[in-house]
Amino acid sequence: MYLTTLLLLANIYTTISAQTSNDSSSSYVLPLYDPAPLDRRQRVAKNQQGYLYGESLLGNLSFFPTGQLGDALVAKEASLWTSEAELFESIVHLEAQEVATALLKVSNASTTPSTSSTQELASFFALYRNQWQDSNPDGLDVGAYTNFTQDLYFSMERLSVNPFSLSRISPNQTLPFKLANNVTMAITGTTLSKLQLAGRMFVVDHSDFADLPRQPGKYSASSTAFFFIHPESGDFLPLAIKTNEGADLIYTPLDSANDWFLAKTLFESNEAVFVDMFHLSATHAVAEIVHQAALRTMADQHPIRGLLDLIMYRAYAVRLAGSTSLFNAGGLVDQNFAFNASTVLGWNSRLYQNVLGRFQTNYFERWFTDHGLINSSYGPALTHFPFYEDVKPVVDSMRVFIEAFVRSYYPTDDLISQDTELQAWIVEANGPAQVLDFPPAPLTSRTTLVDILTHMTYLTGVLHHALNSGAYAASWHLPLHPIAHYQPLPTSKGVKSVLPFLPNATHAINQIALLNSFNRPSYKYDGLNLPALFSNPTFLARANNDTQAAAARFQTSLTKLSAVNQAKSFDRDGLSQGMPFIWRTVDPMRLPSFLSM
Ligand SMILES: *[C@@H]1O[C@H](CO)[C@@H](O)[C@H](O)[C@H]1NC(C)=O
Ligand SMILES: *[C@@H]1O[C@H](CO)[C@@H](O)[C@H](O)[C@H]1NC(C)=O
Ligand SMILES: *[C@@H]1O[C@H](CO)[C@@H](O)[C@H](O)[C@H]1NC(C)=O
Ligand SMILES: *[C@@H]1O[C@H](CO)[C@@H](O)[C@H](O)[C@H]1NC(C)=O
Ligand SMILES: *[C@@H]1O[C@H](CO)[C@@H](O)[C@H](O)[C@H]1NC(C)=O
Ligand SMILES: *[C@@H]1O[C@H](CO)[C@@H](O)[C@H](O)[C@H]1NC(C)=O
Ligand SMILES: *[C@@H]1O[C@H](CO)[C@@H](O)[C@H](O)[C@H]1NC(C)=O
Ligand SMILES: *[C@@H]1O[C@H](CO)[C@@H](O)[C@H](O)[C@H]1NC(C)=O
Ligand SMILES: *[C@@H]1O[C@H](CO)[C@@H](O)[C@H](O)[C@H]1NC(C)=O
Ligand SMILES: *[C@@H]1O[C@H](CO)[C@@H](O)[C@H](O)[C@H]1NC(C)=O
Ligand SMILES: [Fe+2]
Repeated sequence: MYLTTLLLLANIYTTISAQTSNDSSSSYVLPLYDPAPLDRRQRVAKNQQGYLYGESLLGNLSFFPTGQLGDALVAKEASLWTSEAELFESIVHLEAQEVATALLKVSNASTTPSTSSTQELASFFALYRNQWQDSNPDGLDVGAYTNFTQDLYFSMERLSVNPFSLSRISPNQTLPFKLANNVTMAITGTTLSKLQLAGRMFVVDHSDFADLPRQPGKYSASSTAFFFIHPESGDFLPLAIKTNEGADLIYTPLDSANDWFLAKTLFESNEAVFVDMFHLSATHAVAEIVHQAALRTMADQHPIRGLLDLIMYRAYAVRLAGSTSLFNAGGLVDQNFAFNASTVLGWNSRLYQNVLGRFQTNYFERWFTDHGLINSSYGPALTHFPFYEDVKPVVDSMRVFIEAFVRSYYPTDDLISQDTELQAWIVEANGPAQVLDFPPAPLTSRTTLVDILTHMTYLTGVLHHALNSGAYAASWHLPLHPIAHYQPLPTSKGVKSVLPFLPNATHAINQIALLNSFNRPSYKYDGLNLPALFSNPTFLARANNDTQAAAARFQTSLTKLSAVNQAKSFDRDGLSQGMPFIWRTVDPMRLPSFLSM
């Protein structure tokens, strides 16, 4: 099985190297310097006719390609994608059966039921240990098995596996809910208002799930949670979780272990839906529409179009596949989520139109600045911010490459103004393509172009995998991260066991299989990992030598970042980047260079 995988992927790689197509096989050249400008204009005109904007396929996100060329592109990419996905799915399917068999043996062998809640919860790890070795060869995050009930584990996941629902609360903001002062004192050593005034409070608010109908037999909260920077230790910790459903209970770390753990799972289940849909809107839908505008306005020989074609390799397969096997009626979302697919897509479309579709709003540092996670004008800095720590050097390296690339083709800003295709792209993006919050036309500086291209590369090369394909298999594990609950939320505190609320073995195996089917263990990709992004032979053959040199430097710096990631370990306190688990998701060598899934 393993050998087949390797062979098939080697095949795919050969196809990719050959397929970055060339209309006329020439080197990249700006329209200004093209020796055959008339031919070129005709080719662009053909692109305008052939690539059209079709409906979104998944809710009301950006347009999806149609037209003669658009349909052909989607069909070609879908067929490449399908042959690979079928292989991974068959592996996952076999592994799921193996887990089910193994569990049966365990349950037949055990004569006495678990006695403590810790034992009960740890029983979920039979679903992982020595299982899924092909779909998830690296296993769960180190520390997951032993440390998953710790509060610091839970809170630091907000600063690593998903920092995009978290915001710092400003001193003058109205709090979404209040806690009794004696409760806040017992947890934080100070009062709620002092904590807020000191800029130490953070919120995650999923209360917008409250209006959404749940599917029969499935339940979920619509949690609002507070986190805080501890006035003495400086640790980032959980303060409270309010469910906003049923009895609308407010849980805190002072509750019984069962109650508090249940509250955490309710919160995590909201996070799972949020992050899954965030990745669809904020990475796929945005990168695709910006590229579609480029397909219609720039000739294939345009260096900027060449770069966009490279980073958007196979991207259009994903929304199509999503519409046929994930978000279809009765599909994987309906089977696993508390909300059905059309409900969750409707919710997500509003999020896309208001926030996630907005191009500049989502720039890497701007997002975290706007949400008070870096460079906050009030409150102390976060002691550790693993997502930022790991992703920033990757984005910095991307920017260094893009700067060299842009400068090599545009020695002056003036050339930007003279590039009719480039300008047409910006106009198209702001106009017919309806890219939200895109830099306005006309483009006047290389810096803005570097910002646009760096952001596109961040979306496709790292943000996507940090939240989705690279993360699910290692970090979104049970029992802490169920996608749905299976009992109505309790009407009072004091639950005897968390188990009845959590997925049973059948649902649990389905959940793990679903998440693992997004994993693409990338050492198998051989040339398609993130460090090799700009070293694609076809791209380099057409690029100038400054770009070639910059691509080699990029590969070297990302390979070094990978080594840093692989050297992560626990310190004396059993922490890594301030967390009781080793978060390995953003290891460039393990990430694909493209929107793989
Ligand atoms: C690309 O250019 C090469 C060399 O001129 C040519 O042989 C090949 O057919 C071209 N490929 C495409 C897809 O146009
Ligand atoms: C999609 O959202 C936009 C912006 O809110 C709205 O104008 C448009 O009518 C919506 N389209 C559909 C099909 O719902
Ligand atoms: C487990 O027990 C059930 C019945 O209790 C039996 O049908 C099944 O074969 C047993 N499985 C194994 C693997 O022993
Ligand atoms: C709250 O404070 C921020 C920054 O300190 C300020 O921009 C905002 O206008 C204030 N809001 C209100 C409601 O006073
Ligand atoms: C807080 O005070 C209430 C009564 O006002 C009491 O029931 C509760 O146990 C106290 N909680 C703590 C943590 O002291
Ligand atoms: C999804 O849920 C909504 C709201 O309950 C319902 O109207 C719709 O028919 C459901 N769709 C499917 C395909 O089950
Ligand atoms: C944010 O703060 C860091 C230091 O913590 C600084 O290096 C950086 O320039 C600041 N960024 C912005 C956008 O202000
Ligand atoms: C889990 O619950 C589902 C119903 O929601 C049921 O069909 C299935 O048999 C259960 N699995 C186990 C192992 O109990
Ligand atoms: C760049 O490539 C050209 C040939 O295409 C070569 O003549 C030139 O020396 C190269 N420049 C550098 C700096 O390597
Ligand atoms: C986390 O788990 C590892 C073992 O998996 C252990 O070495 C480490 O001390 C734990 N950290 C904490 C804070 O408990
Ligand atoms: Fe994806």
